[in-house]
Amino acid sequence: MNFMRLGAFLLAVVSAPMFVIAQAWGADMFPDKAVKMTYVLNCAECHGRMAEGSTEGPALVNVDFLKESSVERISEIISKGAMGKDKRFAASQMEAEMPGFSEDLSKDDIGALAALVKSWNK
Ligand code: HEC
Repeated sequence: MNFMRLGAFLLAVVSAPMFVIAQAWGADMFPDKAVKMTYVLNCAECHGRMAEGSTEGPALVNVDFLKESSVERISEIISKGAMGKDKRFAASQMEAEMPGFSEDLSKDDIGALAALVKSWNK
């Protein structure tokens, strides 16, 4: 096998499963790649890569509280954070707290994330 063929073979072996993983990862949940990146880098560690939730944060998909919340309200939560047991904003009963992102993310980024979260809670 020459190097070109080996290269093509390796590319096929590596890219096929990557494609399947990318599909399974919810291309539809994240129509905008830049916003997805912002979500993955800032939110996924607590809320999960598919917003399915974890021990550190509640799920953000199909949540009654979020269905009733406006994009503005969700922006406020992302900007100021959620206070765990104090339930300043959040509907969940978690003791964990969420930090505010007003210093780490721009208003545009926060607005885009809020619109994304809202799109999961129509
Ligand atoms: C350190 C963990 C952590 C990170 C990082 C985090 N959150 Fe949270 N988030 C939480 C917790 C915990 C709650 C619920 C707090 C409570 O129960 O009072 C929450 C609540 C929320 C809520 C309200 C949902 C509800 O039903 O209560 C939204 C919306 C939200 N987060 C969005 C985001 C977004 C968008 C990001 C990324 C910018 C993010 N969060 C980053 C932990 C986190």
